Amino acid sequence: MKLLAKLNLLLIAVFSLGLLLVGVGANRSLQRQAQAQVLHEAGLVSASASAVRQYTEEEVSPLLQKATEHETTFTQQVIPFYAATTTFQKIRKSYPDYTYKEAALNPTNLRDRASDWEADIINHFRDSPADTELIRTREGAAGTSLLMAHPIKVEAGCLQCHSQPSVAPRPLIVSYGSEHGFGWKDGEIVGAQIIAVPISVAEEKARRGLTELLIVVAITFFVALCLIDLGLFYIVIKPLRTIAENANRISQGEMELEQLNPKGKDEVAEVSRSLNRMHTSLQKAMDLLNG
Ligand code: HEC
Repeated sequence: MKLLAKLNLLLIAVFSLGLLLVGVGANRSLQRQAQAQVLHEAGLVSASASAVRQYTEEEVSPLLQKATEHETTFTQQVIPFYAATTTFQKIRKSYPDYTYKEAALNPTNLRDRASDWEADIINHFRDSPADTELIRTREGAAGTSLLMAHPIKVEAGCLQCHSQPSVAPRPLIVSYGSEHGFGWKDGEIVGAQIIAVPISVAEEKARRGLTELLIVVAITFFVALCLIDLGLFYIVIKPLRTIAENANRISQGEMELEQLNPKGKDEVAEVSRSLNRMHTSLQKAMDLLNG
């Protein structure tokens, strides 16, 4: 096998290994980044929902409660959970793949009834009260989503509307009935705030980033290979071929050929000079022999 072919094989092996290592490393880091981005988005949704809840509870409900004291129909707008869910429904018009739900096992509004997998999450919080956050992935119609869930705990203030129908405001019973959303106990975990953020967008971005990076690295390796080949050809292969040809001709008794003209101090020049010396010595010996 020729020198250039051997070296190319070696370089291709080294570059392939390099490409593989870069690919694996970059893939891991891009995936991690995608996960972190999705988590960040979910955290943002969760924080905004909590902020809406708090704002309603502290600033809107007190005013509304006073204003609607004598109304016979229930004013949903005083309910912090209603505010958060309704706000998010408006956000979903722009981000349809994102979902937000305040799921409860026994909800006041049946729209909030926990599905099977949501009930699993709520039961997880009920079984492990120390857990305040749960992160999971879930396959859905729109691809994989990241779920972020937080438990919803009953406090003394909630009991007015969620303990017994008899103590609940009349209008609430009129609007929602007395069948569900009651029997909650102080300190009990009755539901979970569950946010789903699609991972596919971030993952697609990571995949595209990886492909672009690999293409750039592959092109760099290819250009490097061409430059190395070019350098090797002019610095080593071409002079070596001349040396080999001259050595061949001398060995066949051709003494009149011109001496090599080595430049520089590298190994190839060294061999050229040695060959020149050998050529001269051989010529002298031949001259002596021929008298
Ligand atoms: C003034 C009455 C009232 C109080 C006080 C109240 N809630 Fe509610 N809650 C409601 C009503 C009514 C709904 C249904 C709102 C809707 O239609 O979205 C609701 C909905 C919810 C939901 C969504 C699931 C469901 O049942 O539909 C959760 C969770 C919830 N409340 C938890 C609480 C917690 C926790 C507290 C105390 C911190 C509390 N609520 C205090 C009346 C109340």
